[in-house]
Amino acid sequence: MAEIIRGKKLEFKLTDVNKVYEGPVGILWEMLMGEQIHVGGAAETDILATKIGLNSEKSLLDVCSALGGPARYLARNYGCKITGLDGTQKMIDEANRRTEEAGLTEKISYKLGDAQEMPFSEGAFDIVWGQDAWCYVEYKDRLIKEAHRVLKPGGIIAFTDWLQVGNMTEKEWVELNTFMVFPYMETLDGYEKLLVDSGFELIEKTDLSKDFARHCHVYQDMLRKELKPKIIEAYGEDLFNAADFGLDMWVKAADERKVGRGRLIAKKK
Ligand SMILES: C[S@@+](CC[C@H](N)C(=O)[O-])C[C@H]1O[C@@H](n2cnc3c(N)ncnc32)[C@H](O)[C@@H]1O
Repeated sequence: MAEIIRGKKLEFKLTDVNKVYEGPVGILWEMLMGEQIHVGGAAETDILATKIGLNSEKSLLDVCSALGGPARYLARNYGCKITGLDGTQKMIDEANRRTEEAGLTEKISYKLGDAQEMPFSEGAFDIVWGQDAWCYVEYKDRLIKEAHRVLKPGGIIAFTDWLQVGNMTEKEWVELNTFMVFPYMETLDGYEKLLVDSGFELIEKTDLSKDFARHCHVYQDMLRKELKPKIIEAYGEDLFNAADFGLDMWVKAADERKVGRGRLIAKKK
């Protein structure tokens, strides 16, 4: 397979991500994807949970837990204990509110913190979990090392993420990442290397880019038909136009297999 040409890392930090998830764009993501803010919703959560044999005996750390949608779903359907870690106060507050409302506070707690410097002790969890969020993280090597530290020996890391899957021009790289406020996208092989270098044994590495492109079209249709009047009414035409422009760029890049999505599962040796 030909080597993927990588663009330069952009200067986006957690403080930039905070602005996204504290403002209307964060709400827009929920309007598009639901309170599980990842491609494929609950069905994807079930796939990942089934693959790792999740059950009520396990303690799971959801890194970048956002609104806690996956946490509540996992607590209800698999009975496990969950800690959600997120770096945006508004997401933590909203996750706490919804979890209290759902009567799930005995099973789930949330902590404000940076995925690159996790506020947990060594060997605290059986599973480190992530869904479509680590693309926002500046130093993914630090995140993976931290995941290794907070896992028990034999513990599992299981995640999906948005990826660079093909070559693109520097201009495309900058525009695609900037629209999303991603410092950079990892590749599937890049994640494998980070995992192996941090002391994990790879169990699964799957390219989900075809399905990602299909979902991008679904989100574009939803934005242009169902959500357009609601967004314009609540946030104005400029925000709708910016979202439509950016999503269109992503739809094209996904169709051309420049960007995509992948699933990785690995075990702490
Ligand atoms: C797409 S949402 C995550 C969706 C969530 N995994 C789900 O499936 O519902 C991205 C989240 O990542 C969080 N985030 C981004 N960078 C982070 C970091 N370095 N540390 C902690 N949280 C971060 C944001 O605050 C935001 O809530």
